[in-house]
Amino acid sequence: MSLLGCAKSGFIICVGLSIVLLAINNINQIENDLNAEAEIKECGFYPGELCKALYEGKPAALVVGNICQEALPPKREGPIILESNCSTLIYDLHFITEPLSAEEADYPLAYILTIHKQLDMFVKLLAAIYTPQNIYCVHVDRKSPKTYERAVRGLASCFHNVFLSSRQETVVYAGFSRLRADINCMEDLVRSDVAWKHVINLCGQDFPMKTNREIVQYLKGKWSGSNLTPGVIQPPHIRYRTQVTYKEFVHMGKSYVYPTKEEKAGPPHNITLYFGTAYYALTRNFVEFVLTDRKAKDLLEWSQDTYSPDEHYWVTLNRMKEFPGSTPDAGWGGNIRAVKWREQEGVSHSGCSGHYVRDICVYGLGDLRWLIDSPHLFANKFDPSRYGLVTDCLERRYRLRVLDGVEVPVKQSWYFQDEYSTMSWQ
Ligand SMILES: *[C@@H]1O[C@H](CO)[C@@H](O)[C@H](O)[C@H]1NC(C)=O
Ligand SMILES: *[C@@H]1O[C@H](CO)[C@@H](O)[C@H](O)[C@H]1NC(C)=O
Repeated sequence: MSLLGCAKSGFIICVGLSIVLLAINNINQIENDLNAEAEIKECGFYPGELCKALYEGKPAALVVGNICQEALPPKREGPIILESNCSTLIYDLHFITEPLSAEEADYPLAYILTIHKQLDMFVKLLAAIYTPQNIYCVHVDRKSPKTYERAVRGLASCFHNVFLSSRQETVVYAGFSRLRADINCMEDLVRSDVAWKHVINLCGQDFPMKTNREIVQYLKGKWSGSNLTPGVIQPPHIRYRTQVTYKEFVHMGKSYVYPTKEEKAGPPHNITLYFGTAYYALTRNFVEFVLTDRKAKDLLEWSQDTYSPDEHYWVTLNRMKEFPGSTPDAGWGGNIRAVKWREQEGVSHSGCSGHYVRDICVYGLGDLRWLIDSPHLFANKFDPSRYGLVTDCLERRYRLRVLDGVEVPVKQSWYFQDEYSTMSWQ
């Protein structure tokens, strides 16, 4: 019985039942497999078989996987960045150093990565999405520790096409600073001589579900010359975000956005506000236009004291006919990001196997199946310090898919070495 087979109404009962059934059917198996400390150590080899059983949603694998995850400290990529030279880093972190196909070489992408913590996850993300024809702007939060920034800067310095944004913000959740950080990177990216076609923004808790080649084919196909910004006309329950003015509070390591009593006038130029995802794929023409256009600048200015302007700015501009690459009739379509929202439980997913943070699921082992079935380009959120096996499984499966059918000779270091184990799971 698969947890993911559970319907919403019966979810809790179903989970309970699964656990009981597990206990009866699989406990002997599990005890056999884990009867000695030595065998728990086997978890540390990231067994491909265990991952495979987890993808298939096998209950025994879930139990053992969770035991492994609890028992073993996560593998830390972060510290080695500060200690190693670039050739060692590129080798040890399995960075791919050549374009893998002509199609990808001809369609460079730009990335904006806004990060503030969890070096390990950033390294996994960059190692997954890195390819030499793309360009990567990293925005490190001004309030991040200096050692963190130094490590990121050190890693970036190993690549001609990875750089830290020239302007740094103190990013406040749901604040204007989050939008400003993206724009800082865009200002750097439009000056780049890399001929990027679309820019994609990610945060430090994202991981790709589709390979660079699949992303290129998706954007070249359905979204050729167009922006991908899922969203709709601002719904009534979202109006509070733009009806009064908001302020950012930053003091002694604490920061948040709070509403004031001051009513806010409507948007400039009588612009109709849309609401949607802060995550996008935008064309270069659109970005260049937005950075110089009067209307776009006025909307940006007006958005400074609104709640989470990154969730209206891009969507709104991309609905305006005169903007290059705009899609005025777009709705929620477009597979930019897989997210398990708490409110979507029983609708688009059957629950979060990890835990919710701000009503967004941090994926646990029981979410792997749902993730690999997802049509989206990226998924959010991951936390390797808590669910290390989730990211270990995904990054290995992902790399095998990336290297499948490439047009250049594959280097040994591009593979994760510890792929297979002899363990088998019922
Ligand atoms: C980088 O470090 C490795 C291991 O410490 C060493 O063998 C190698 O020569 C170094 N490479 C460079 C270019 O300094
Ligand atoms: C603003 O837009 C609304 C609806 O789109 C329209 O009815 C109204 O006439 C416009 N006002 C101005 C001043 O253009």
